[in-house]
Amino acid sequence: MQIPMRRNRPLKTIAIASGKGGVGKTNVAVNLSVSLARLGRRVMLFDADLGLANADLLLGLRPTRSLHDLVTGAVDTLEDILVEGPDGLLLVPSASGISNMANLSPAEHAGLIRAFSTYNQPLDVLVVDTAAGLQDSVTSFCVAVQNVSIVICDEPASLTDAYALIKVLHQDHGLRRFRVIGNMLRTPEAGRRLMQKLSSVCMQYLPDVILEASGMIPMDDDLRRAVQRREPVVSVFPGSLSGRALTELARQVDRWTVAENDTGGIGFFVERMLQSA
Ligand SMILES: Nc1ncnc2c1ncn2[C@@H]1O[C@H](COP(=O)(O)OP(=O)(O)OP(=O)(O)O)[C@@H](O)[C@H]1O
Ligand SMILES: [Mg+2]
Repeated sequence: MQIPMRRNRPLKTIAIASGKGGVGKTNVAVNLSVSLARLGRRVMLFDADLGLANADLLLGLRPTRSLHDLVTGAVDTLEDILVEGPDGLLLVPSASGISNMANLSPAEHAGLIRAFSTYNQPLDVLVVDTAAGLQDSVTSFCVAVQNVSIVICDEPASLTDAYALIKVLHQDHGLRRFRVIGNMLRTPEAGRRLMQKLSSVCMQYLPDVILEASGMIPMDDDLRRAVQRREPVVSVFPGSLSGRALTELARQVDRWTVAENDTGGIGFFVERMLQSA
């Protein structure tokens, strides 16, 4: 008798990263996830900011468990820690308490891999919200996904730090292709200029790197208001400037292709992440 093989659907995986902090990663990750869920995709948002986790706050959710409980063995399955948000979006709450994935013991590794690889609900997209900067945990999450999106804003430090992150991911980890999202832009022209600046430094010093502009999000007081209300701007002010731009970003992301053979699901993602850590 043949044992049927479980075949996962291809899973699209995206990390939202930045060099400098406070450029809007979490807002991009949350609103992108909510918009994709609204398009009918089954979305998991992984809060990988191990220090200052706040995706739950922006969604108005109050998780009682986190990745930390999986690592310590307080719970066994991913379902035990998942929290449901708008349109069926699933949040993996961050693991405050784990400072670095590289410090986990072999048993903790195995527990995490088991919990993720036995999760068998259908999923279309995994969005990973990372911490700012060049910490090892950030690079290991970036190495584990198919699409790294770097958020930049119109400040010199944001550009130099984005360049430093791209350089590390390229030179130390072999990544070549990056999507770039401009945020808090005062004019469309400012967005184009910013993108051009980053492209020209990369072309000069990292000629093998390919950058792709993937979204321009305006500076918008409605987004700040949404943050204060603990609701995603695409839910509470969908017609605002940032709401429309973030919804458009989700439509773009929805058109990105996934290799048909990338069917390892989130189990593979976690394995790759731990391997690189
Ligand atoms: N498009 C925007 N328009 C206006 N304000 C914005 C916009 N995007 C982000 N902000 C402001 O920046 C703040 C920080 O955003 P967010 O928490 O998403 O950044 P982050 O990059 O995740 O920060 P950290 O590096 O600390 O994780 C928000 O609370 C909001 O006040
Ligand atoms: Mg954040």
